[in-house]
Amino acid sequence: MTNDAIKERIERLRAELTQHNYNYYVLAQPSISDVDFDSQLAELAQLENQYPEFADPDSPTQKVGGDITKQFNTVKHQWPMLSLGNTYNEQELRDFDERVRKAVGDEVQYVCELKFDGLSISLTYEQGKLSRGVTRGDGLQGDEVTANVRTIKSIPNKLKPADFPEHFEIRGEVFMHRKAFERLNDERIENEEVPYANPRNFAAGTIKLQDSAEVARRPLDCFLYFLYTENRSKLFKNHWDSLEAVKRWGFHVCEHSSLCNNMEEVLAFIAHWESGRFNLSYDIDGIVIKVNSYGQQEELGFTAKSPRWAIAYKYKAEQAETQLNSISYQVGRTGALTPVANLTPVQLAGTTVKRASLHNANEIVRLDLRQGDTVYVEKGGEIIPKIVGVNLAKRLPEAQAFIYPDKCPICETPLVRKEGEANHYCPNEDGCPPQIVGRIQHFIGRKAMDIDGMGDETIETFYKLGLLTHISDLYSLYDKKDRLQQLDRFGEKSISNMLAGIEKSKEKPFEKVLFGLGIRYVGETVARKLAQYFKQIDALAAASTEEIAAVNDIGIRIAESVTEYFANPGHQEQIKLLQQYGLQFKTEVKEVVLSSDKLVGKTFIISGTFEQFSREELGNLIESNGGKLLSSISGKLNYVVAGENMGPSKLAKAEKLGIPIISDQDVLTMINGQ
Ligand code: IVH
Repeated sequence: MTNDAIKERIERLRAELTQHNYNYYVLAQPSISDVDFDSQLAELAQLENQYPEFADPDSPTQKVGGDITKQFNTVKHQWPMLSLGNTYNEQELRDFDERVRKAVGDEVQYVCELKFDGLSISLTYEQGKLSRGVTRGDGLQGDEVTANVRTIKSIPNKLKPADFPEHFEIRGEVFMHRKAFERLNDERIENEEVPYANPRNFAAGTIKLQDSAEVARRPLDCFLYFLYTENRSKLFKNHWDSLEAVKRWGFHVCEHSSLCNNMEEVLAFIAHWESGRFNLSYDIDGIVIKVNSYGQQEELGFTAKSPRWAIAYKYKAEQAETQLNSISYQVGRTGALTPVANLTPVQLAGTTVKRASLHNANEIVRLDLRQGDTVYVEKGGEIIPKIVGVNLAKRLPEAQAFIYPDKCPICETPLVRKEGEANHYCPNEDGCPPQIVGRIQHFIGRKAMDIDGMGDETIETFYKLGLLTHISDLYSLYDKKDRLQQLDRFGEKSISNMLAGIEKSKEKPFEKVLFGLGIRYVGETVARKLAQYFKQIDALAAASTEEIAAVNDIGIRIAESVTEYFANPGHQEQIKLLQQYGLQFKTEVKEVVLSSDKLVGKTFIISGTFEQFSREELGNLIESNGGKLLSSISGKLNYVVAGENMGPSKLAKAEKLGIPIISDQDVLTMINGQ
C-alpha cells in the first residue's frame, strides 16, 4: 500500500468507528456487531502501531486510555461552577416562579431537565477538539482530569463538522448506570476490595483515578446540560436552542427534557418523574428548572452561590426505620457541641447507617426524642443521614426524655449558650483537646492552607506528644526536626515532605490564611470577601462590627464574630507569630491600567442584552475607562445602561428615582466623544 492509501484507510476506519461509537453510546442505537467493531478497532490499532507518523490523540483507539496522571493540576474555571438553590415542595417552587416573573415579566418559559446524580464536569473545546476536562472542585477551581475524560465513550474527543464556536465550554454530569455499578461493585466484593456505596461515589472515585486505562474499563457516561461561550446570545436566543445545537455537534444530551410554558406544566413534569425515575437506568435526585431565555437569564443574574434563573426540585430521600439506642456528644473545632444519635444499624440507599447527626439541642426537642424510640432516618443530599421523625406507635410508655449535658463531655468545663444561638459551646478554647486539634486540622486542610505531607492523624499524634498546641507551632516544627526523627512512625522522607509542605504554605494567599484561622462563621466565601475588601489583616482587625457588616453579603452575626475574634489577646498573639513566620496577611492589589479617565466618578448598572457587547464586555469597558459598576439601583447610581429585555421592576425603580436610562451607544459616546 502507498502512504496515501494507508492514510486514507486509517482515516476511514477512524471516521467509521467514531460514528459507531456515537450511535452506540450517544444515540443508544448500535450500528455494528461487537465482533465487527472489535476487529475494525484492532485493524486501526495495528496500522497506527506500524505507522506512528499518522498517530492522532483523538483516534477511537485512544478511548482505552493509557496515560498516567501523577498529580492532577488545579485549574481556574473561566466561568465559576455554581450550585443550584434547592426546593422541596410546590410552594417553594411557586415562590421561585414569582421571583422570576417579578424581575423579568410574565412571559417566561422554563426548561425542565432531570437532575442527574453524578459529579459535574466542565469540558473545553478548541477548534472542535476536546482540550480540557475539569472537575467542579470548589466551584472556582477544580482538578484537571482530561486524560480520564477522554476515555468516556459518550464524550466526543472531536466534534462532527458543524457551526460550533472556536472556543467553548460545556458542562455536564458524569455518572454510572446502575447495572454497571452493580456488576463492577460485585467484582470488587469478590476481589475483597472495598465496595462503593452508590453509583455516584463510584463515578466520583473513578474520575480521580491516576490510571486512565482503568478509567476506560469502568463504563462512565456523561450528559451535557449547559453551554458557555463568549457572546453566547449572538449564537442562540435561549437554552433550549443551545441544547438542540450541541446535540447536532455530537454531544450526549438527555432526551427527557421539556419546554414548559407555565408552572402547571413544570409541576406535571415533576410529578411524572417522581415515579418515572425508577424506570431509568441511572439515578436522578430531582428536576432542574431553568429559565429558557438567555436575555432573561442575564437579567436575573446570580447570587453569591447560585443562579437566580434556575432551581432544583429535590425528590424526597429514601427513608428507613430503626431504633435510637443512645446519644453521644462531639466537640468541634469551634467548641460547638454536636449531639450524635447511635442507632441500631439499618440499610439505607445502599449503605449501612449506624449514626445520625442531630445538629443541636433544639433538634432533640423538635423531634421530641425519647430513649429507645423507633425513628425514621433519611439520607438527603448530605452524606450524614438524619432523623426525620419518631414512630410514636412504637414508643414505650416509660420512655425517658434525654437530658442535655451542661458540661463539656471532654474537659468538663460548663457549657455556654448565647442568647438566640442554637448551639451550646465549650468555652475552654485553649484547654479542650478536640478544639485544639480540630483547629489545627482545619488550618492544614485542603480548602485552607492545603499542607501536603500532613494529615489529621499526624496533628492528633503531635498534639498528644506536646509538639503542637497552636497553629503557629506548625512553623516551629522545623526546629524540632531532631525530635521528629526519633518518632517511630515517621521516616526521614515523610518528615522532609511534611516540612516542605509547611514551608510552601507560607505562599498561600491571605484569603486562605483568613479562612484557615477558623473564625466562627467565616467560611471560604466570607473569608474571600473580607480579604478582598479589607486587603490586609490590620485593617480587618481594626474595623468595627458596623464597618464589617457594611461589606456586601456580610451579616451582623458574622461581623460580631470577627470583632470578637480579633479582640482576644491570644488570637492577636497567634497572628503576630504567623506574620513573623512569613505567612500572607495582605491581598495583592492589582494595578488597573485605565484606557481613559472619561468615566471617573460615574456609576453604572447594566441591564438587559446588547447587540454589540456581552454584559461582561460592556462592564469591562466601563471599568477600564474609570467608571464604577453598582449591583443595585439606589440614589448613588448615575446611569442605567439598558439593552433589550430589561426587567420591568428595575425599569420602574430607575424611573421612580429619576435615574437617566441610556444605551450602550451612549456609553461609547461618553468615552469617544461624538
Ligand atoms: S445546571 C448554573 N442541570 O446539580 C448551572 N445541573 O445542585 C448549574 N446537576 O452542580 C448546573 N443535573 O452537578 C444542571 N440538568 C442539570 C443537572 C445539574 C444535575 C447537578 C450539577 C450541579 C448540581 C447543582
